Amino acid sequence: MEYYQIAIDGPSGSGKSTLAKGVANKLQILYLDTGAMYRACGLKAIKTGIDTKDTEEVEKMMKDIKIDITHEDGEQHVWLDGEDVSKEIRMPGVSVAASDVSAIPCVREAMVDLQRKISEGKNVVLDGRDIGSKVFPGAKYKFFLVAAAEERARRRLLELQQKGVTDTTYEDVLRDIQYRDQQDTTRAASPLVKVEDAIEIDTTKIGIDETLDLLLSYIK
Ligand code: DC
Repeated sequence: MEYYQIAIDGPSGSGKSTLAKGVANKLQILYLDTGAMYRACGLKAIKTGIDTKDTEEVEKMMKDIKIDITHEDGEQHVWLDGEDVSKEIRMPGVSVAASDVSAIPCVREAMVDLQRKISEGKNVVLDGRDIGSKVFPGAKYKFFLVAAAEERARRRLLELQQKGVTDTTYEDVLRDIQYRDQQDTTRAASPLVKVEDAIEIDTTKIGIDETLDLLLSYIK
């Protein structure tokens, strides 16, 4: 049996995860949030007091890191060295750390291997930055989501507030997003790019339900 992948790439806050979850739910296939894996690596660097930009230190750290992904009732859980860190990886400081370590090739190699392994023998929708360009260049459908940075910051802030984070301002979130946009698109290893065969959708002005319908309309 042939299995297929759906790639949803784009910058942070463009709506990737909500849409990928919607697609997975509609098609009854697995959803893999690849950003969560890089976040787990970033969190490990924070916990061990490593400079997230120090390639040598991060390489050492990656030698004995253990990341596992499980799914319970349709929710993805991320385990770092045996501990469920699914909530912790969403905290503000972890975003920048994830972006930093994700620029280091050995981190990318380990995460891409894991993503391909988890996807084996399944139909799967993955969201990230390099799914259509690197992880699954042969994906059946490729989407590239974009949205204005200000709108993405507004959405992220709302998400954080809903999780009970109250000490982060709109300016903090916007700065975070701009920092990551710059770093994620300019790094040498698998930068965020729209591949030629990806369908681009601008989510700045359209609501999530409408975007999901649009996305599903391309999937036959
Ligand atoms: O999607 P996210 O915001 O949870 O991702 C966190 C960081 O991880 C993001 O700034 C860049 C990195 N990332 C990546 O390099 N490649 C992916 N496929 C997913 C995320």
